[in-house]
Amino acid sequence: MVRLRPIEARDADRLWESLQDPEGIRLTGTTAAFTREQVDEWTATVAHRPGRYDWAIAPGAVRDGQQVSDELIGEIVLNQIDEHAGSANLRLQMLPDYRGRGYGREAIIEVLRFAFDGVEGEPGPGLHRVSLDVLSINPRAQALYESLGFREEGRLRDVYRDGNAWADAVVMSILEDEYRAA
Ligand SMILES: CC(C)(COP(=O)(O)OP(=O)(O)OC[C@H]1O[C@@H](n2cnc3c(N)ncnc32)[C@H](O)[C@@H]1OP(=O)(O)O)[C@@H](O)C(=O)NCCC(=O)NCCS
Repeated sequence: MVRLRPIEARDADRLWESLQDPEGIRLTGTTAAFTREQVDEWTATVAHRPGRYDWAIAPGAVRDGQQVSDELIGEIVLNQIDEHAGSANLRLQMLPDYRGRGYGREAIIEVLRFAFDGVEGEPGPGLHRVSLDVLSINPRAQALYESLGFREEGRLRDVYRDGNAWADAVVMSILEDEYRAA
């Protein structure tokens, strides 16, 4: 259903669009503001930054042997890679029109496969643990991660501002053996 490929300069328009999305901003607790120039620079260079993997999620649909579209419909990132501990952080966001259609789930499965086992032609980082933070105001995302084998580890209480209220950061992770069991 999905194809993951490195982020490229041509993805700047769509990543810029995703940064303007109010639901995405709220549900990811984003507070940093980026200029268009920063986004252009980021998309052009992020593939070469060490210690992280940033993928564009593109639809995997194929017609007559050809991929129907290679356009970015979301992004997924493994960052904060600690080679010694074998751990990394996972982050993802789909563009608004592509949510709730199963793409996010497939992308996470692909990235976990890469993280723990590597994929054909690329050994991968051979991780032991993949963790993420999800806001307590985002129960749908939390349910998705749980269904994939992530477990809640704890909460940072009221670390995010949500309008006039606060939200917790729910810390979740999946370990290598849990990934294999799932
Ligand atoms: C969270 C997110 C990455 C999940 O990807 P997705 O492609 O929408 O998820 P899937 O289609 O694979 O669906 C998995 C489940 O999550 C639900 N879901 C989670 N967030 C959703 C949203 N914002 N809109 C629609 N469905 C959502 C789906 O309904 C589905 O539930 P179901 O299996 O009971 O039907 C994506 O919805 C998104 O980018 N949301 C906004 C930003 C965000 O929350 N990022 C995650 C921060 S931790």
